[in-house]
Amino acid sequence: MGNGLLATKPLSVIMEESAETHEHSLKRALGPTNLIALGIGAIIGTGIFVLTGHAAASYAGPAIVLSFILAAIGCVFAGLCYAEFAAMIPIAGSAYTYGYATLGEIFAWVIGWDLILEYAFGAATVASGWSGYVISFLQDFGLHVPPALAGTPGTQFVMYHNRWEMLSRIAPALQAAGVDPASLPHASGVFNLIAFLGIALVTTILVIGIKESANLNSFIVLVKVAVLLVFIGLGAHYLTRHAALVSANWHPFLPPNDGSFGAFGWSGVVRGAGVIFFAYIGFDAVSTAAQEAKNPKRDMPIGILGSLVICTILYILVAGVLTALVKYTSLSVPDPIAIGIDQTGVRWGSFLVKLGAICGLTSTMVVMLLGQSRVLFSMSRDGLLPQWASAVHPRFRTPYVSSIFVGIFVAIFASVIPIGILGELVSIGTLLAFVIVCAGVWVLRRKNPTAPRPFRTPWVPFVPIMGMVISLLMMAGLPGDTWIRLIIWLLIGFVIYFTYSRHHSRVQKRAPSAP
Ligand code: ALA
Repeated sequence: MGNGLLATKPLSVIMEESAETHEHSLKRALGPTNLIALGIGAIIGTGIFVLTGHAAASYAGPAIVLSFILAAIGCVFAGLCYAEFAAMIPIAGSAYTYGYATLGEIFAWVIGWDLILEYAFGAATVASGWSGYVISFLQDFGLHVPPALAGTPGTQFVMYHNRWEMLSRIAPALQAAGVDPASLPHASGVFNLIAFLGIALVTTILVIGIKESANLNSFIVLVKVAVLLVFIGLGAHYLTRHAALVSANWHPFLPPNDGSFGAFGWSGVVRGAGVIFFAYIGFDAVSTAAQEAKNPKRDMPIGILGSLVICTILYILVAGVLTALVKYTSLSVPDPIAIGIDQTGVRWGSFLVKLGAICGLTSTMVVMLLGQSRVLFSMSRDGLLPQWASAVHPRFRTPYVSSIFVGIFVAIFASVIPIGILGELVSIGTLLAFVIVCAGVWVLRRKNPTAPRPFRTPWVPFVPIMGMVISLLMMAGLPGDTWIRLIIWLLIGFVIYFTYSRHHSRVQKRAPSAP
């Protein structure tokens, strides 16, 4: 209640509105296993399949394993805070709604605006990773995408053995063969058409509103997990027979810092954690299913933390095996897991990994763009964004205008902005949302200690403080350019808030004279 920047949206109103939109009629059908599967479906994606390679090659080396552990610890603390809110305010709007109900409108705006960054740029990042695997898969069948349409502007390609190859991918092979890349024909990427088409496809699916079937999701989750397990199994088996490879590639495990912050050494581990934090994003998606959980009090934390723990274990094993199979310096490629499995010489392994990544990343794109349209929808319904954003298609019953609008932007981002930049921006934005959610749990415990909390975050304020500290540490590890991009994004948000949203906010109109 109240007005001004800190106006809050009463819980009773939030519940009423969810009833209007028939969220109340959702069946309470999801048990702990479904919720864990939902989390894994959203979590496993471009982070592990692509960014692990980039982060190991540029920041942490084999110590990327430690980065995965650090990021996981931060996520567990934040996850416990998400669980308290998810059980208390079991509404699809996730962190945006929690912020509105507890901290006030300006915080809700910041989180909402930040979630747009997370989901829109996140979908672009995943599309970019997806395109790397699609292009590599097509090449295996002799179908070559012209270099100008296979990479973002500036990506270098060289012609080798009559094939256009991405320079970063082929450089180690060229070096081993004693070929000077400068002697080969060159071409540059201009527009990543495959990533563009990926987003166009997913946007079409969302507009038409093909119901995301629980069975399909479970199948894709199984495929993703199976692919990672096959990779770990084949890789570990190969490594037990080639122990010398492990000592060669893992030495040094923590490459010395090269003099600049974030380039290897311990600061590199922290920066690596900030980058691969992207791989964990998605467990918060479980919180959006709170109303469909049979027993949210017990199952929200199980879903959030269970999916996190399973992914953490898989990620640590994958990162360890990958950096043992391939020297980290060769991993800055669009399809590092496939490169890893190529090393074992199992041809069907590479085929399986690529196919699994392509299917698996498609479902992550769907989750991200779906999350995006839900956030826009909620913000527009609250009057913080124009009404067209919540326009629903008369026949398909989907928020088609916002889906198409977002789809066009995301498709363009994905085709022209390099994946590293996209991923880091998403990580920093999501970490900021985590900081606010952790702070929110603590603030609300003090402001409203008696509100019913079906699940209580343990050890408050220790857990929220640790969630904030580790998230801030990972944010601090990210490059200065990424901070500047985040600040620009937030400034654009504030301009929109102060020129439009404040004056159209339904909450402000509802209580114009409240104290
Ligand atoms: N965690 C998701 C991914 O890695 C967003 O693609």
